[in-house]
Amino acid sequence: MLERVSGMETEISPLEAAKRNPLMLGLFLPIQSGAWSPSTAPRETSWTFDYNARCTVMAERLGFDLVFGLAQWMGKGGYGGEMKFREMATDPLLVTAGLAALTKRILLVSTVHILYGWHPLHLAKFGATISEMSGGRWGLNMVTGYKKSEFEMFGLEQIEHDHRYVMADEFVTMMERLWSEDENLSIDGGFWKMKDGFVAPKPAGGRCILVNASSSGAGLAYAVRHSDLIFVTSPAGANLDRACETLPPHNARIKAAAREIGRDIRTLINPHVICRDTEAEAWAQYNAILEHQDPVAAQNFYATFAGGDQASWKAATREQWTIGGNVHIVGTPEQVVDGFRRLKAAGCDGVQVNFYDFLPDLKFFGERVLPLMREAGLRLDAPLAAAA
Ligand SMILES: Cc1cc2nc3c(=O)[nH]c(=O)nc-3n(C[C@H](O)[C@H](O)[C@H](O)COP(=O)(O)O)c2cc1C
Repeated sequence: MLERVSGMETEISPLEAAKRNPLMLGLFLPIQSGAWSPSTAPRETSWTFDYNARCTVMAERLGFDLVFGLAQWMGKGGYGGEMKFREMATDPLLVTAGLAALTKRILLVSTVHILYGWHPLHLAKFGATISEMSGGRWGLNMVTGYKKSEFEMFGLEQIEHDHRYVMADEFVTMMERLWSEDENLSIDGGFWKMKDGFVAPKPAGGRCILVNASSSGAGLAYAVRHSDLIFVTSPAGANLDRACETLPPHNARIKAAAREIGRDIRTLINPHVICRDTEAEAWAQYNAILEHQDPVAAQNFYATFAGGDQASWKAATREQWTIGGNVHIVGTPEQVVDGFRRLKAAGCDGVQVNFYDFLPDLKFFGERVLPLMREAGLRLDAPLAAAA
């Protein structure tokens, strides 16, 4: 990407261009049926590629910095209930490859469970390929998996929490070396071996964008060593006031750990945004989602995160899980922007929003919220962002 500074054009990476925004802005793609909310309140949101492609193209046109897809492995019926919440789910790695061909500027981040049977050479090659397809816009959310049932689906035993990160560290280090070193590579690691492995083309800049979403000590140490972006979760659940009280030390701890090893890391949080012209309308929508909840799906969804061995998402209540997302921002466009401003003040460098009814909510967001974000100094002017 070319940037004009003092009349000179210089090349900056798509990630650096995105980081120029005072508050990075991402969209959490609804590639699982039901997205984040186990509710049957009316909406058009769909898990299909076509729908997610339309969301991504619209997000890019609006100047969003990134889209992101989560990865999950569920049995028949998903989280259950009549709606079979999240039974339908496409794979984010393949979805982002498809999106690469439809977009020009937006970052495309996909989650991969790196411990479910892959070799680092696979993902180094896949990443280099999507990076080449997208002009250096592809990012890998390199998660370890926290569900026993998922490990079992792959015929594996669940790996102890901190040990997962020891393994992941070796995996990602091998991938990074395959991306950056220009000779055949032989490694006799503790968990993976490789004789004369090589990847070409190399990703632009010598590495793909790396992302992680850990919260635990071991997870954050790994995330800080390798990631460009870290998805944080509120230590106090989805209430915005409580989140903003507890996020500052959490973000500060991550930034301090990054600084100690000379790394520049941005933290992003994913708010569920319900925005309407009036506060009353926004809360009416919030209540409609709750009133139409699928009780079985909602209970299973909540219980999965409450019971897992992962450190993130622990403080959210069952009701908060039914709305979805990590922090709830409900209200008028002005109130939503104020919520973003508070999250930034709490140390978050970006927000990755999710909605209930994605396309109409995204359109409204573009028309009503984004101009106010620019006025508040949270986003660059539209023409600059669009030209980057
Ligand atoms: C925004 C966000 C997205 C995540 N996406 C996924 C995902 O797609 N798949 C997954 O298995 N875990 C996902 N996680 C969970 C993390 O990988 C991790 O297990 C969790 O944050 C717990 O951290 P810990 O392992 O440090 O305890 C996500 C977490 C966050 C905050």
